[in-house]
Parts: sequence; C-alpha cells; structure tokens
Amino acid sequence: MSLPIAVLISGSGSNLQSIIEKMEDNILDVDIKVVLSNKADAYGLKRAEAYGIPTAVLSHKDFGPREEFDAEMVRILKEAGVEAVVMAGFMRIITPVFLNAFPGKIVNIHPAILPSFPGVDGQGDAAKYGVQLAGCTAHFVDEKMDHGAVIIQAAVPAYPGEDEDELRERILKQEHRILPQAVQWLAKDRLSVEGRFVKLAEADVDLAETDGLSLINPPLEVGF
Ligand code: GAR
Repeated sequence: MSLPIAVLISGSGSNLQSIIEKMEDNILDVDIKVVLSNKADAYGLKRAEAYGIPTAVLSHKDFGPREEFDAEMVRILKEAGVEAVVMAGFMRIITPVFLNAFPGKIVNIHPAILPSFPGVDGQGDAAKYGVQLAGCTAHFVDEKMDHGAVIIQAAVPAYPGEDEDELRERILKQEHRILPQAVQWLAKDRLSVEGRFVKLAEADVDLAETDGLSLINPPLEVGF
C-alpha cells in the first residue's frame, strides 16, 4: 500500500518533481493526494497539474494568526486523506496545530548541512561564509525552523568565489536524490526517532552507486 501524502510548496517545485518522477519509476511508494501552495503563482502547481495531481492554494495573507492558517491546511489535507507531509520548498513556519495533526510524519528539505545555515537562503549564506563544503538535509519537522531530527544529509564541494547559482544547482541536484529517499524510508516505516537521532531500519535493498561528486549518509539505495 502506498503512503498517502501531501507535498507543500511555495515556488518552483523541482523537489516535488523529483518525488513525482520516482513515483512514476515505481521506486517510491507514495500517493500524492494533494499539492498545496501558499502562493497562487508557484510553478510547482503546474507541475502537479501536468500529472493530474490535485492542487490547493491557501494564501497565508488571508489569515490572521499562523494557527488559523495551519488549521485550514490541516482541514484540507485530512479531507484529502493525507497521512504524511513533505515540505518541499514550503517557506512557512508551522505551528503545533499542524505538527500535532501529523505527529512524526512531516519531512522537510533544507539546502544546507544543518545546523549550519538555517533560514530562507541556506545556499547563499553558505556561499557568502566561504565554506568548502555545502549541502542539504532532509529532516523531520519540529516546532523550530529547520531544526528537527536529521534523516539524511548530502555534502558537495563549494568553490571560492564561484557564482552562487552554480552552488545552488549543485546542492539542488542532491536535494532531488535525498528527499525522495527520505520519503521512501518514511513510506516503508523504516525510520525511528530517539531524541535527536533517527535510526534507519535495515532492509533487503541494494545500495546505489555513488556519483563521486557528493558524500551522502546514510547511503542512498538503488534508484535514488
Ligand atoms: C529548495 O532548495 C529547498 O531546499 C528550499 O527551497 C528550494 C525550493 O526549490 N527550502 C528552504 O530553503 C527551506 N528552508 P523547489 O521549489 O524547486 O523544490
């Protein structure tokens, strides 16, 4: 059985696309019940529509307190039969109203090796800092921004003075691998959380070959 999920977006939706493609390849056991955006012009909505996936737009500007916005999101997602949530470039902080509706079932992708460079521009902040390694993190969501227990991280090189967009692209490529992998582990119920530690249950699955350009842990499995 596929895990019924929602994907929350605010923009381009390239991470959403990576999930859809792994579903199409039959290596990701999820069913996207709805793609919800807080921005009506998010390109990711078009990506979803192209695959016949239901979409919803809910502007945070139409709500007062964050809790009211979150309660409406919960209503829409529950009505759609959603059991787990993937935040894929969703640029909103969520409250306990949302968290408590999907306990232990909300995953976020962040374009930095947390806890370094949380916030809205992880890649830009890392580039400006002059790091030699940058990367991305898929993690469970808790009440603090970019903070919950880490599921998987990828590191890529950063080069002094390079164009920030090149670093962004290098990181994004790895986001598109680790996010679907994290979602698959969630779908297969292979993740258990003890405090800050996420343990991955072993399975009879072969590991993917490394691309030689990134360091990813835990290692990706075949197909990701
Ligand atoms: C991604 O780089 C994602 O990691 C980032 O927004 C981008 C969305 O791209 N998220 C955050 O910065 C969250 N703090 P996409 O819409 O093409 O998937």
